[in-house]
Amino acid sequence: MTLRVLLNSTLDNHLIELYDEKKEQTMKLIFLGPPGAGKGTLAVRAVDILKVQQISTGSIFRAAIAAKSPLGVKVKEIIDAGKLVDDETTIALVKERLSQDDVKNGYILDGFPRTIPQAEALATFSAVEKVINFDIPDSGVLERLGGREVCRKCGYNFHKIFTKTTKEGICDHCGGEVYTRDDDKPEAVQKRLEVYRAQTAPLIDYYRQKGLLLDIDARPKIEEIVVNFKKALGIN
Ligand code: AP5
Ligand code: MG
Repeated sequence: MTLRVLLNSTLDNHLIELYDEKKEQTMKLIFLGPPGAGKGTLAVRAVDILKVQQISTGSIFRAAIAAKSPLGVKVKEIIDAGKLVDDETTIALVKERLSQDDVKNGYILDGFPRTIPQAEALATFSAVEKVINFDIPDSGVLERLGGREVCRKCGYNFHKIFTKTTKEGICDHCGGEVYTRDDDKPEAVQKRLEVYRAQTAPLIDYYRQKGLLLDIDARPKIEEIVVNFKKALGIN
């Protein structure tokens, strides 16, 4: 017997209301946008605000590459060239991750889905509530990716000009080593932008038509974006 049925049997309407309210408090978000738009940077802050898990398919792939696992070996060349990992592999990975207990009440999908087939598959195993669309021109992307540095240990993003590490090469948050991603080389960045336009940008209309899209201007400083993000979600 579920708790809902039990409560019904006691006819306690107040408790039923409280139970239903509690059950509805979820936050299932997608962060959609071009490479370098700032999805990962906002996601790290949004995790603290919303108390949900960040699921970055890119980070999962990079961890697999670092560990030289079978998945890592399979995807390394594809990622370094700025292309997309195949839908079947990526969907299976996210489906498995979303079956875990820690994401029952919410998650931020950072970088998934990236194709229409991925979005259609996601709809069969999880009900996304909002899609945050990071709006930024190519010039902004090139500026950001040109200076990005990432911590190997905690994944925090820095930038050689905008958000420098205090000590060169050392993460301010965990003391880990910061490095430049292989796919931030200029040729790979161009490829990632092409792939974004061809395969990922159509998701903007896909989710707008479903009434789930919230556009965020991704050009301002991160502090301003955090404020606008909270406003868009109706959070104080
Ligand atoms: P992924 O890791 O997801 O890369 P991406 O989408 O290309 O996005 P990035 O991580 O490069 O950018 P971001 O938007 O997170 O920006 P960030 O916050 O770092 O995927 C990597 C690869 O994995 C893909 O190319 C693909 O091969 C594969 N993959 C992943 N998901 C897949 C999928 N679903 N299907 C198939 N393949 C998949 O910010 C960038 C820089 O700007 C940083 O230096 C940061 O400090 C700075 N910055 C950020 N915000 C601001 C701001 N407001 N002001 C000033 N500077 C800022
Ligand atoms: Mg990222």
